Amino acid sequence: MEESATLAADAKAKELAAAGRDILSLTLGEPDFTTPESIAKAAKEAIDSGKASFYTPASGLPTLKEAMQGYMSQYYGYSVEPSQVLVTTGAKMALAAFFFAVLNPGDQVMVPTPYWVSYADQVALAQGQVVFVEGKEDQNFKIGVSQLEELWNDRVKVLLLNNPSNPTGNLYTREELEAIGNWAIKRKVLILADDIYSRLVYNQAEFVPISSLSPEIQQQTVVITGVSKTYAMTGWRIGFAVGPQELIQAMGKLTSQLTSNPTTVAQYAAIAALTGSQEDAEKMREAFEDRLNTIYPLLNQVPGFRVAKPEGAFYFFPNVKEAMKRKGFSKVSDFTNDILETIGVALVSGDAFGSPHHVRLSYATDLETLKEAVRRLEHYMNL
Ligand SMILES: Cc1ncc(COP(=O)(O)O)c(C=O)c1O
Repeated sequence: MEESATLAADAKAKELAAAGRDILSLTLGEPDFTTPESIAKAAKEAIDSGKASFYTPASGLPTLKEAMQGYMSQYYGYSVEPSQVLVTTGAKMALAAFFFAVLNPGDQVMVPTPYWVSYADQVALAQGQVVFVEGKEDQNFKIGVSQLEELWNDRVKVLLLNNPSNPTGNLYTREELEAIGNWAIKRKVLILADDIYSRLVYNQAEFVPISSLSPEIQQQTVVITGVSKTYAMTGWRIGFAVGPQELIQAMGKLTSQLTSNPTTVAQYAAIAALTGSQEDAEKMREAFEDRLNTIYPLLNQVPGFRVAKPEGAFYFFPNVKEAMKRKGFSKVSDFTNDILETIGVALVSGDAFGSPHHVRLSYATDLETLKEAVRRLEHYMNL
């Protein structure tokens, strides 16, 4: 196994910063905002009242599951039973529980590229095999049914779809999702829908949940989501899996043995996040949108960098093939290391996501830092 590449890149940036270097880190996928006050207040109350002192049911507090039922009705347009909801220690644990519950040794999981770093390692840990489905840049990194059909064989058990995507920020349309969903039904392939960025879409783009497209698709899909990105709650570690009862129960057995319940105080905070006013979440979304719209044209002016405008999440994933060539690098990690050493800008190298000619910049950081980082990149390319 490898250490998470994004966490490793951030650790290196922090090490240089601790040594006194002026470092701008665009590595991490977490909002730079602190958790909204109303959510923190609910957590403080849970501590003060003593409620936070105790275990909860391993699969989560009934009131949090109820809040999630409300969330599904509101944002997905269908209702679920409490037995279809599992609360986990971050969405990452929900994904791991899925793979361990579902995969037998040698079972295959289709993963569109570029892909979030942890999928491949988690599948390998669960003794599954990843089948990469190439997201082509000229298709905005989206995959289609003809590719799935080409790679399909009877060991394929799961299709993973991360929409909007980390690292590309692309967003699938309803028609694209219908085609993919119907293909999965035809081939009896489970869909693992990692919707963790679903509330972070910009410029009037619409997130369509694949699980909402038909009852048949819903019955074959496990939705993974959480509070980390939408509510600036990465540190609280609360995620969710929502899907067919049989699968959710199997996943729940695993988490009951591995973690017991997710931290009780964090569950109370998540209830406040899901059921309280959504105003703070919307303000943060607007801030990301503003950064996206401001930085996008500037980034495309950096010599050798080329990027399509993302519609969701909070990442740019520019193609830097030309920039690497100009600077004499053939390996993208050497290129990002040189950028870090020379101008103090920390990026994640694309090979961590299966892309040898791209870098990832997170815009979950303030606008001044972002502008300065892009200024430095432009300077670097003109050196
Ligand atoms: C695509 C994707 N899925 C899941 C996660 C995990 O989120 P959590 O913080 O809830 O574990 C992340 C976090 O970076 C992510 O980018």
